[in-house]
Amino acid sequence: MGSKLTAPRIAGRKLQNGDEPLVMLTAYDAPSARMVSEAGADMILVGDSLAMVVLGYEDTLQVTVDDMVHHTAAVARAEPDCFIVADLPWMSYHVSKTETVHNAARLIRAGAHAVKLEGGHERLPMIEAIADAEIPVMGHLGLTPQSVLAMGGFKVQGKSTQAAMILLSDAKSLAHAGCFAMVLEGVPNEVGKLVTQSVDIPTVGIGAGPDCDGQVLVFHDVLGIEDRFKPKFVRRYAGLKADGVEALTAFASDVRTGAFPADDECYHLADDEAEALGLYGSAASTPDEDPLSSW
Ligand code: KIV
Repeated sequence: MGSKLTAPRIAGRKLQNGDEPLVMLTAYDAPSARMVSEAGADMILVGDSLAMVVLGYEDTLQVTVDDMVHHTAAVARAEPDCFIVADLPWMSYHVSKTETVHNAARLIRAGAHAVKLEGGHERLPMIEAIADAEIPVMGHLGLTPQSVLAMGGFKVQGKSTQAAMILLSDAKSLAHAGCFAMVLEGVPNEVGKLVTQSVDIPTVGIGAGPDCDGQVLVFHDVLGIEDRFKPKFVRRYAGLKADGVEALTAFASDVRTGAFPADDECYHLADDEAEALGLYGSAASTPDEDPLSSW
């Protein structure tokens, strides 16, 4: 678990060595980071999925490096007992090696232990540049959400022999270029297994089947905070959106009926102060209460 994990230690974690699967969850702020840490996850991903589940965008293309720095710093301030990976957003590693390394360093300075980027052979020079700067880098292959326009939607990848062979070759190149691990998203189980067994670094799957060296899911999906759609690979372990709406509805009703606040949820003047204000004997009354005592 957590604090003892480093990129080199993660790089050695393979199911085929008899290791336990890696557990990764996204988190985007201090409370979610604390929850993921207390749940005992190995890794937190400050994913650019925050665009969709937190910031209300349709896809991940709108998120900037500034956004990622802001959320990575919030996660890091919670001091989770997890290895923190932060996503490099779209267009932050596409222009030049200098810009790529500079952006990766911003995420590290915000508190990440590693960065993640999407793509295969076309990203190798950037991966090498990041690794050369001594920044641990995680790859991401298969359904890469930042390619949503090029892919024509969020579609399962690697379904033909040719596509699977390209994916396999990309995975080997990523490992060779210095990635310490890679996310495999939205590929058939068989391809997930083939890639996992063909590379020396761990694969962390999301919709890539049970044979990956670890699994990652989005915080809001696992907890049922995002309930508008549920991809096939998501398992919901709670219904926090529904529970939350129920609780907030009860609050609204209590306010409207006068049931909130109750007397023990109020502060009161001391008797002498109430008297000085001419309130003694009226509804105002009671205790010798320190107004700050219950803070
Ligand atoms: O941004 C994200 O949450 C991700 C996961 C889907 C792996 O990249």
